Amino acid sequence: MKRIALILVILLSFSACKSAKESQPELVDLKAEPVLIRQPYLQMVRPNTVTITWKTNAVTGHCKVVYNDLNSLEENEVAGKLVLHEGDKFNEVVIKNLKPQTAYNYAIYSNGYLLASGKDYFFTTAPDNKNTAFSFYALGDIGAKEKQSFAIEPATRITELGIKPDFGLGLGDIVYPKGESKNYDNHLFKPFEKVFKNTPFYPVAGNHDWLSDPEKNFEKEWALPDNEHYYGFSYANAYFIGLDSRNGGFFELEKQTKWLNKELKKVQGKYDWIIVFLHHNGKTCTYKENYHHVENLYPIFANSNVDLVLNGHAHTYERLKPYDASGNVDRSVTNQSEYKNLENRFISITLGAGGKLNKKWFPDPFNLEHYKDGTIVAHAEHVGSFGLFEINGKSLVFKAYNSFTGTVLDSFIIKKN
Ligand SMILES: [Fe+2]
Repeated sequence: MKRIALILVILLSFSACKSAKESQPELVDLKAEPVLIRQPYLQMVRPNTVTITWKTNAVTGHCKVVYNDLNSLEENEVAGKLVLHEGDKFNEVVIKNLKPQTAYNYAIYSNGYLLASGKDYFFTTAPDNKNTAFSFYALGDIGAKEKQSFAIEPATRITELGIKPDFGLGLGDIVYPKGESKNYDNHLFKPFEKVFKNTPFYPVAGNHDWLSDPEKNFEKEWALPDNEHYYGFSYANAYFIGLDSRNGGFFELEKQTKWLNKELKKVQGKYDWIIVFLHHNGKTCTYKENYHHVENLYPIFANSNVDLVLNGHAHTYERLKPYDASGNVDRSVTNQSEYKNLENRFISITLGAGGKLNKKWFPDPFNLEHYKDGTIVAHAEHVGSFGLFEINGKSLVFKAYNSFTGTVLDSFIIKKN
């Protein structure tokens, strides 16, 4: 009997897990209550589908999500898959056939044990039309060990905003020091757990994330579109393109540039807004150099109706004046708080003080010559910060928030005809 039970456990663990390829021992015990190591987080929230992931210890043999439309008591459940990674299990459930723009409550179960539920565990599917107003937040350079990162500050301020962002963008250097999977829980998921459980996140890799093999670290942590290095997704009337700038020289430079051109061509005339996000900056007045690979993309951005280019890397806040294809500031634009027509120009913003500030590297920005002459900088502040973008039809409102005080430190509006 004992032998049959053992064979059954091995067979069950084999069929339920994609883990066989990783040469770690299977410790599945279907009767054991798994330890919840990581709170659930949302990914790939589309009009009809969502991915919910959480992490448990290795005893887990099966998992499921029970969910219901907030306006109905009818419960549904979907089983997920388990992926063994560094001794723990990712519990990943993909829910399909959902209604667009609808809020659902969810509860997570592993081995049949309820591990998390309640009013904060919900997701809202993306709209299936282009008229819906929406918002998103963005920040980069986020998670490091305690005392080296204040990631809990922006995470807390995001939960206190008057509006709930529909999703977030991660502008690279997601986890310090080297983007290792083993640091994701303490450095990122713990401080951001209240945000991630009901707001999906779309990160791109930065140079620190590239210090560990992204295929075995970054990509294990996230479910992202396309090849997960560079990808595109739509939300209402906007199209988002995430790029992988690796160490500044770009991952698969030629292939990625080709893809970017194709992607931008595909979306021309179909969306009111095109937003590019990546880790490295192009032209900048921060303590970082100008990354020529990014500058080389300016003509593509400017000629393909890209509106915003968001980056991290420099641990500070910097908003530049509108650029043209040559990276030249348009001096005809005098009012830097309301832009009426940005055709063939885009605005570049550094939001790299997500969890880090490097005081010793940074002189007082306002004493620097290029800040003083004001030729390319619209606003810069050396403070922990994140950005909030609200899109409503042809109007985009941007606010940069101080992550410690929750006050708005910079803002502008773009209005299109
Ligand atoms: Fe960086």
